[in-house]
Amino acid sequence: MKAVVYTKYGLPDVLKFTEVAKPTPKDNEMLIRVRAVAVNFGDTLARHFNEISPRKFSMPIFFWLPARLVFGLNKPKINILGSEFAGDIEAVGKNVTRFKVGDPVFGYRGPKMGANAEYVCVAESEIVTPKPSNMSYEQAATVPYGALTALNLLRKVKLQPGQKVLINGASGAIGSYAVQIAKLMGAAVTGVCGTPRLEFVRALGADHVIDYSTTDFTQNGETYDLIFDILGKSSFARCKRSLTPKGRYLLASFKMPQLFQMLRTSLFGRKKVICALSGENPDDLRQIKEWVEQGQIKSIVDRCYPLEQTAEAHRYIETGFKTGYVVITA
Ligand SMILES: NC(=O)c1ccc[n+]([C@@H]2O[C@H](COP(=O)([O-])OP(=O)(O)OC[C@H]3O[C@@H](n4cnc5c(N)ncnc54)[C@H](OP(=O)(O)O)[C@@H]3O)[C@@H](O)[C@H]2O)c1
Repeated sequence: MKAVVYTKYGLPDVLKFTEVAKPTPKDNEMLIRVRAVAVNFGDTLARHFNEISPRKFSMPIFFWLPARLVFGLNKPKINILGSEFAGDIEAVGKNVTRFKVGDPVFGYRGPKMGANAEYVCVAESEIVTPKPSNMSYEQAATVPYGALTALNLLRKVKLQPGQKVLINGASGAIGSYAVQIAKLMGAAVTGVCGTPRLEFVRALGADHVIDYSTTDFTQNGETYDLIFDILGKSSFARCKRSLTPKGRYLLASFKMPQLFQMLRTSLFGRKKVICALSGENPDDLRQIKEWVEQGQIKSIVDRCYPLEQTAEAHRYIETGFKTGYVVITA
């Protein structure tokens, strides 16, 4: 089968379109004919993980070494990227009971990756579920990572209808689904992003949008019940006066100082810092599929590239011009 393989870390040129053996599903696995794979933060990070020092890593230092060991210290251990996919089941192992040949599915493999290929084997117990009937393969492939992470992290704060939420990083994979999931939880949502993506975030349903390159949201006099900072580009100190008296500052990316802030604010003060890790499960993807089919969650694809141009897709992402998702079609 055709696949995009990388055997050394580096720039997008390390991604080579080549021929590899077609995998055979084990008894508990399905062979999926991949139709579309989104390129996300994890793909570009894994491609050049050798350059990510503990300081550059967006998580606490004690996650850095395990992550380096999983991905490979000096050269990549996992040679095919691609973690969120949509495709059709081509064969099933004898113990698979919930899926059959021909079913269109979508799913998320996290660090196992492997979907930048014509075929991937996925265990029935992994995060995989029937594809939403109202989305193309390209649209569906963009959903799992961002929507699962956004849902899991927003659950940590138990949003109430009518609450005011600000999402800092609303145009990215997690943020764009966080905007939509916070809206369907009944929140009034303000999305913060760069100038070229203001209309994109508005189209996702944000009630207000703020351009971080021209406006500092911490200075606009508004207060929010939740500030969800995806990249941690702001800080609790700066956000504090933009929080309501019991407001929460939720971080998807955090380091040791933010963990200490979480500990301190859990003991003292009414405004809380929450650093949270997402723990995905198949039921969550089934819930997300329902929301998609009810028209409550959409996906806006920017560009599609054929599998052989995966390196080009990575280059495009690194220009910083993308507005929406970049998808590989296989
Ligand atoms: N906690 C967890 O369990 C968990 C799980 C997965 C990932 N993560 C973390 O999530 C992060 C990746 O998130 P993602 O996949 O959504 O990334 P992404 O798709 O690259 O999106 C990044 C977002 O940040 C925005 N941004 C860039 N500079 C900014 C600034 N100065 N101020 C405000 N916003 C700014 C971007 O806006 P523009 O593009 O409009 O400029 C974009 O909306 C990583 O740090 C990763 O470690 C955490």
